[in-house]
Amino acid sequence: MTTGGGQVERLLRMRAEARLGGGQDRIDQQHERGKLTARERLELLLDTGSFVEFDAFVTHRATDFGLESQQYLGDGVVTGHGTIDGRLVFVFSQDFTVFGGSLSETHAAKICKVMDLAMQVGAPILGLNDSGGARIQEGVVSLGGYADIFLRNTLASGVVPQISLVMGPCAGGAVYSPAITDVTIMVQGTSYMFVTGPDVVRAVTHEEVDRERLGGAATHTSVSGVAHLAAPDEAQAIALARRLLSHLPQNNLSDPPRVETSDDPARMDAALDSIVPDTPSQPYDMHDVIVRIVDDADFLELQPAWAANVIIGFCRFAGRSVGIVAQQPAVLAGALDIDASDKAARFVRTCDAFNVPLLTLVDVPGFLPGVAQEHGGIIRHGAKLLYAYAEATVPKITVITRKAYGGAYDVMSSKHIRGDVNLAWPTARIAVMGVEGAVNIIFRERLRSAEDPETERGRLADEYEEQFAHPYIAAARGYVDDVIVPSETRPRVIGALHMLEGKRQGNPRKKHGNIPL
Ligand code: HXC
Repeated sequence: MTTGGGQVERLLRMRAEARLGGGQDRIDQQHERGKLTARERLELLLDTGSFVEFDAFVTHRATDFGLESQQYLGDGVVTGHGTIDGRLVFVFSQDFTVFGGSLSETHAAKICKVMDLAMQVGAPILGLNDSGGARIQEGVVSLGGYADIFLRNTLASGVVPQISLVMGPCAGGAVYSPAITDVTIMVQGTSYMFVTGPDVVRAVTHEEVDRERLGGAATHTSVSGVAHLAAPDEAQAIALARRLLSHLPQNNLSDPPRVETSDDPARMDAALDSIVPDTPSQPYDMHDVIVRIVDDADFLELQPAWAANVIIGFCRFAGRSVGIVAQQPAVLAGALDIDASDKAARFVRTCDAFNVPLLTLVDVPGFLPGVAQEHGGIIRHGAKLLYAYAEATVPKITVITRKAYGGAYDVMSSKHIRGDVNLAWPTARIAVMGVEGAVNIIFRERLRSAEDPETERGRLADEYEEQFAHPYIAAARGYVDDVIVPSETRPRVIGALHMLEGKRQGNPRKKHGNIPL
């Protein structure tokens, strides 16, 4: 008979075994690849000593392909809860040392358990993904496990924040769960995401491509837009996740945490008064505006290298988290194209779902013209952004810095689609289109019959500019609430946020809207 002390020893032995995952050799291999283990990652992610593990003794139930004799405690995923900056979060961290982190029936059930709890108690879920996808030996049972997770990702969407860290070569089902979550963070050089890897691609399409180009961090943060952020190593990726979480609430019924700041809410920045160039076609960097108005010049930009003609990210004003959507006149003149519309629309909905007010900085010459854009469905994609802004009920503050032309004026959080406080700088130009296009269309006859068409064009352009290249027609109609001196922007935004703090707005009752996907 085993004594009580013996039982404790047995438990401690089993715990030690669980901590080893697939064994020391595989842990060493993981380290040689420049990767941390599932548990080391959790130690970096969570507040020290806060992790509480569930299901460390779970093992798989498969019997085929010799799996019966290969049992690892925990079955390739470490799950539980802990805290980040003292706030409760639920976590799962896949262990590549056990069958390549592949997902079995029991592995899936462990993840579902923490997801269900996270939704019940209203706390964020962070998934650390390092997985070869569905465990091939388990067949349809592992596919079912994935579907169980996808269902929970979907049900949790807009209820609790979901953040995915991709920390290794994620394939198959391992990429669709991150794809449904709010934000995906990758690690440069060691993480990959693809539905099918280079070997399958070669067999099916005869294309030669390596992992990095097919689905590395650079590809997904600059070409596909699948990932939001990438970091040079795992520790920095994890630090980004912690920073991101500080901008989000525990759930859709609470507000993001407020932080102390010594940055004066009344601070004015005189440099803003001359930041917009005199020539309307001359670019400037909207980041310069952003860092001058937000708290402590601190801006967490998402997807900086993809669709860079629009800027999205989190900042704070007077310690309160705010989502910024801004045109970038330095890229494509800030025009809205397909990718920029998708990028901004998703971010608007992320902020709206999680009670993060929106600040929109507008300098937009319109939607990008061209056959590629029209054939690619700019109408459908641009409509997403329009829909997202119109539907959003969080406080919406808009500042037009320069151009607000055409449909893009309507889209970019205009008064007409429930912008709460709409401001314009004196450099704002609000019109159906820019001067060149307008003169060519409305004065076509006069230009045709003019003795000196170029002089006439210049004269008509001046006339048009005089008429439209300012914010005062919009201000006369109340479409902008005020024209402000640019240096006043920070205090005016903070004042508007304060005024809007108690905002209550709803949408008609419906099952759900039908956003043009
Ligand atoms: C079982 C797997 C596995 C899997 C990897 N392993 N993937 N075991 N099921 N899906 C095992 C390997 O056999 C190996 O075991 C160990 O994990 C490490 O794998 P390696 O191949 O040595 O590692 P690496 O060279 O780094 O390559 C990683 C990888 C590659 C890119 C993930 O293993 C791979 O391509 N795996 C298959 C990916 C895939 O097609 N998955 C199924 C997708 S279908 P040993 O014992 O040798 O160390 C899917 C359906 C869901 O997921 C669809 C939902 C929409």
